[in-house]
Amino acid sequence: MNEHLKHIREEIDAFSTTSAEEVDKFRLKYLGKKGILTALFDDIRTIAPEKRKEFGENVNTLKKIVQEKVEQLRQTIDNNRSQKTEMLDLSRPANSLSLGSRHPVSIVMQQICQVFEKIGFTVTEGPEIEDDWHNFEALNFPPEHPARDMQDTFFIEKNPDIALRTHTSSIQVRIMENNPPPIRAICPGRVFRNEVVTARSHCIFHQIEGLYIDKHVSFADMKQTLLYFAKEMFGSHIKIRLRPSYFPFTEPSSEMDISCDICGGKGCNLCKYSGWVEILGCGMVDTNVLENMHIDPDKYSGYAFGMGVERMAQQLYKTKDIRLLFENDIRFLKQFQSLC
Ligand code: PHE
Repeated sequence: MNEHLKHIREEIDAFSTTSAEEVDKFRLKYLGKKGILTALFDDIRTIAPEKRKEFGENVNTLKKIVQEKVEQLRQTIDNNRSQKTEMLDLSRPANSLSLGSRHPVSIVMQQICQVFEKIGFTVTEGPEIEDDWHNFEALNFPPEHPARDMQDTFFIEKNPDIALRTHTSSIQVRIMENNPPPIRAICPGRVFRNEVVTARSHCIFHQIEGLYIDKHVSFADMKQTLLYFAKEMFGSHIKIRLRPSYFPFTEPSSEMDISCDICGGKGCNLCKYSGWVEILGCGMVDTNVLENMHIDPDKYSGYAFGMGVERMAQQLYKTKDIRLLFENDIRFLKQFQSLC
């Protein structure tokens, strides 16, 4: 490489800038129409033939060096620019975080508890694995009652004394064992029954049971409390009806229906075309249960009720299939975000 080309090479190597404009100027200086290297290419004709090849190769090398340098400087400037804007753009919206939401069953459970808390009930919880006494015996279940059958109850390790609770009435037994009346408690929790999973029932579900024991508690008190509850939950237009029923731990016993809010009482598949939906069981606490708990039935009386939370959620959110509440499909659960 002759001195002149060497000098040009040194100049090229020494060049550096952080300005895009300067880079453009640099490119034009060497490769533009009137650029230094462009002129040298034109000079090739004037070079002695034996030196032409080498000269041509050298100028070509310089051209490549300039092109690479331009490319590299442009890239560095671009990178700096994007980094700077990332750091400086304080108005840029933050990356959105997808927040979790509460499960509709939890939302409804809390809502129910709040309705009863307003009238003096206290929320109490208990164990999911129960013994026979708390789940059945204390509640006046006769030994041959079908609920005690393997087909209805999940027993633990074939021990007939230990099972997954089939209702949260077991908590009420624990409350009565540990507290003298007056008692006013509400017991939410998960319960387990050995049942086929369908659109209307599941083998795991949630219940809320209530217990009120005091002097002179009557069936009318119970009915009024449950009417208040139905109206608070579903709206003042809701009607209730009580149908005679049977539970080992209450006498007399009833089942309570509310007018179906999905079809407005006209009849749909959720209310089995009757216009009414059963939401809870209730009744006056059986004197045998009070005696089991050493509560004097001549002095005290009380009522109890129990309801399925999923059934309530179905009515409130108008979901036809109970299984949706257990599948944990985010697309379904997200809909309840705004209700938290
Ligand atoms: N324990 C009953 C059930 O699981 C509900 C109930 C509770 C009924 C209290 C009457 C009184 O179905």
